[in-house]
Amino acid sequence: MSGSGKGLLGLWLYRNGVEWQVKNESPHHPKLGELQMAAQRPQITEGEKISVIFTLKNQVGGLVRALSVFQDLGINVLHIESRESMTALASSDILVDVECDLPRMEELKRMLKREVQDFEVVPQSGLEFAPPTPLSAATSFDFGEMPWFPRKISDLDRAQNVLMYGSELDADHPGFKDPVYRKRREHFSALAKNYKSGQPIPKVQYTESEIKTWGIVFRELRKLYQKHACEEYLENWPQLVKYCGYREDNLPQLEDVSIFLKRKTGFQLRPVAGYLSPRDFLSGLAFRVFHCTQYIRHSSDPFYTPEPDCCHELLGHMPLLANPSFAQFSQEIGLASLGASDEDIDKLATLYFFTVEFGLCRQPDGSFRVYGAGLLSSVAELQHALVTPDKIKRFDPDITVNEKCIITAYQNAYYYTESFEEAKEKMRAFAEGIQRPCGVRYNPYTQSVEVLSNAQKITALVRELRGDICIVSSAIKKISAQDSTLDVETIANMLHTGLQMNERSPQSTSGGSTPNSDRGASPKPEDGN
Ligand SMILES: [Fe+2]
Repeated sequence: MSGSGKGLLGLWLYRNGVEWQVKNESPHHPKLGELQMAAQRPQITEGEKISVIFTLKNQVGGLVRALSVFQDLGINVLHIESRESMTALASSDILVDVECDLPRMEELKRMLKREVQDFEVVPQSGLEFAPPTPLSAATSFDFGEMPWFPRKISDLDRAQNVLMYGSELDADHPGFKDPVYRKRREHFSALAKNYKSGQPIPKVQYTESEIKTWGIVFRELRKLYQKHACEEYLENWPQLVKYCGYREDNLPQLEDVSIFLKRKTGFQLRPVAGYLSPRDFLSGLAFRVFHCTQYIRHSSDPFYTPEPDCCHELLGHMPLLANPSFAQFSQEIGLASLGASDEDIDKLATLYFFTVEFGLCRQPDGSFRVYGAGLLSSVAELQHALVTPDKIKRFDPDITVNEKCIITAYQNAYYYTESFEEAKEKMRAFAEGIQRPCGVRYNPYTQSVEVLSNAQKITALVRELRGDICIVSSAIKKISAQDSTLDVETIANMLHTGLQMNERSPQSTSGGSTPNSDRGASPKPEDGN
């Protein structure tokens, strides 16, 4: 819900004596449609707190008549909320929390039927998520000293630690002395702070000035991409133009890009107010959620920004998040971060910085192209990086992790791989060294992270995976007979090596800079061009 205050949707009320007053924060309540999707509900017990959710009939005075039923029956109403209906177009669902005994509840149901279009009664004890599958979930695991991490996608609502900027700007920020810009940033900050997992991202009416700034950056960078951006970046560009409105005179909406990415790789966007902590940013990646700024840099200098803005996100990151291999690489960094120590988070953030933000890919002819978003959104550094061969080194996590991340000037080094697959393999090997007493796996069906902490859980997962492997095996048999390009041996090797126990010793914890306390919406912000 945006801060626009349109309509009554999302309005919160609580009872103060005989008055109804607006309440600022909302406990978790499902919508009517969510409740209807739940397979089973606990039985109502005597005197229990109950939520009643109903959709009003489309007639004047409907809400008053519905609420009068509660009053007539002497039911103690604790809370009322209005929300956009998930089941009826152009309508609202009303949620009423009450304390009620069984006879009156039966009477309430009977009387309410006459006054509302649709309704459901749910004990509040049954409002939380259904318990996860015992074998694959985290229920029985003792996390001990392990740092908290989100285990379901909605937990990301609790992982929004914005370290800097947001609604406040530093004195050296180009927009610091511009009251109009600061007001605008407050608006974007409120949009991000009010956002909850699963909601559509509010669309923004960008101003003429904002679109002009975008256009200037867009035009200059676009000239460089054909020559310098990697193939995987370029191949998604036409679709972003077609489906998301990537044009010089149009600033794309995060919601449109998020829908596009979901269809391409399962990634989705989440608005963020400013620099997110590296831990929170990386944990989003584990769920294929990319935290994305929605504001734009100050118009006074379109080629400079001290922080990631929508030019950086939309032009730098989005085309590659639409690439399946890159998407998986990004997610694996995120999964490696869950429950990791602060020291390991520093290391992962540094590796993220020198790959996702500043990485290069070597081409068959020995030249280099760029996939790092920090470079792809910086006119000056994009060109600089490719004409400094002495600075370009092969990506090796054990070495790269010690590289200093530079925010206000060009990097001292840039790292390349031959492919995203190579980067993935190296990152996997590195992640093996992260101290964690369990494995984690993202389950896309439940949008939750499964903690693999004992034999039963691992065996249950292998049973699930075996189904997929059988599908692959069956397809290989069928296709290999008609397609000689199918390299069965390589596929078998990939499966085999995937299961090999890596005997790599835990990584050294000595040496290396771990600079990232002020990393941005991405763990490190782009250089300010
Ligand atoms: Fe970034």
